[in-house]
Amino acid sequence: MKIDLRQDTHPDPEFYYHQQFKIYHEPYLIWDRETWEAILSSCTVYRIEVDSKYAGDVILEKSGRGARYVVDFSLLPGYQGKGIGKAILEELKKMAKRLTAVTRKETLPFFLKCGFVLSKRMRSYYGPGVDGYAITYHVSTTDAISPGAQRG
Ligand SMILES: CC(C)(COP(=O)(O)OP(=O)(O)OC[C@H]1O[C@@H](n2cnc3c(N)ncnc32)[C@H](O)[C@@H]1OP(=O)(O)O)[C@@H](O)C(=O)NCCC(=O)NCCS
Repeated sequence: MKIDLRQDTHPDPEFYYHQQFKIYHEPYLIWDRETWEAILSSCTVYRIEVDSKYAGDVILEKSGRGARYVVDFSLLPGYQGKGIGKAILEELKKMAKRLTAVTRKETLPFFLKCGFVLSKRMRSYYGPGVDGYAITYHVSTTDAISPGAQRG
């Protein structure tokens, strides 16, 4: 299985608008076309490809020095539960000093397993009774290249 994260430099709002219905079923997680247009024009969009086929997306927004906010991170159902999400997160960790996101109760354990820490629970963030969980991943000093290890 070959997993790639490829920047989509000309993301088509119509394509992503349709993909979301295969992944998300709760109405409060569905973005309308205008929201997709706004997000795709202001964020960096990546296609997750498995064996050269579209498998999902990652959308990142700059949020301060070296930090990235994960606006969306989703895999099509057929690609979930196979270690792909974890492998993609490892790639994202190399791209920023800090990653932040808001997730739901259902997906919080995945992020915690991958090294994120819970910073805040936001009551009714998604809608009445549906809480959001603000999470952060800090690249540790041991992950960074030490000065002695740099060349040139
Ligand atoms: C959430 C998502 C990105 C996770 O990716 P994935 O490829 O399915 O997860 P992985 O197979 O890499 O799982 C990595 C580890 O997390 C665990 N895990 C994954 N999803 C989990 C969940 N919902 N609850 C508990 N543990 C979970 C796995 O068991 C695995 O544990 P292990 O390393 O001990 O074997 C993916 O399932 C998805 O796209 N879901 C739908 C969209 C969504 O809700 N996205 C999150 C928006 S914030």
